[in-house]
Amino acid sequence: DLAAKCADMIKEAKKICLLSGAGISTNAGIPDFRGPKGLYRTAGIENPERIFDISYFYRDPSLFYRFHREFLRALQQVQPTFAHKFFAKLEEIGKLIGIITQNIDSLHQRAGSKKVYEIHGGVWESFCIKCGKAYTYEESLKKTFEEDIPRCDACGGVIKPDIVFFGEPVKYLDKCIQLARESDLFFVVGSSLVVTPAALIPAECRGTIVVVNKGEFSTAYLPMSKVSLVVDEDIDAFFRSVNEHLNIV
Ligand code: OAD
Ligand code: ZN
Repeated sequence: DLAAKCADMIKEAKKICLLSGAGISTNAGIPDFRGPKGLYRTAGIENPERIFDISYFYRDPSLFYRFHREFLRALQQVQPTFAHKFFAKLEEIGKLIGIITQNIDSLHQRAGSKKVYEIHGGVWESFCIKCGKAYTYEESLKKTFEEDIPRCDACGGVIKPDIVFFGEPVKYLDKCIQLARESDLFFVVGSSLVVTPAALIPAECRGTIVVVNKGEFSTAYLPMSKVSLVVDEDIDAFFRSVNEHLNIV
């Protein structure tokens, strides 16, 4: 079965790398973007991707903040999933060389992962888009719940969390490509693989690719010749089965 095969691949691998997407956190209660209950379906607005579009943010930051406020509220309730813990263990036992995540929920770090590269940034820091003044997570959290649009104490400019919007360069791209090139086993977990450049990274791996994703994902940038396993199952259910063969969590 697929879990046994995956467990064998993990046993043989020496340098595992993970690219995670929003699907790894849906079991924690954070909706993804393009899944059946994803934000882009439930937002109830036209062109929902503009929520995270940088030029739209400059014109009307209130749309982003309307959704971000709910995200921050959810973030205060959630716990890492089994899959987050499973990949933290793989690092602890010396098998995993790094996690590239498109997520901004920091659940990998909270599960104990150390080498996490947040290619789309995170919520730990925020900056005034006018004067550049930096704000901590706590400061921006307070402002986001108190103000409709959080504004800079120094200049009144709009504050923006350090997450990567469409139209902005991603973070740590060189490091992410280097990790992929080093890895002998590359997992893609819970991503539709439609957003570049993140979706271009799996192709860089020198070993084999395993995709764990329920539902559709794009193969536009994925070299299927390198893909040895596609698992169309719930992420936590699958990694619990894999763990039954490995007993690491
Ligand atoms: P998507 O929402 O595009 O894809 C998540 C995938 O995970 C979908 O294919 C789901 O079907 C699948 N999925 C969800 N829950 C699952 C579960 N429990 N088990 C198995 N599969 C599950 O999320 P990303 O690929 O991460 O960027 O999206 C990429 C980027 O688009 C995000 O980082 C964000 C977004 O716009 C920016 O905003 C810049
Ligand atoms: Zn300012």
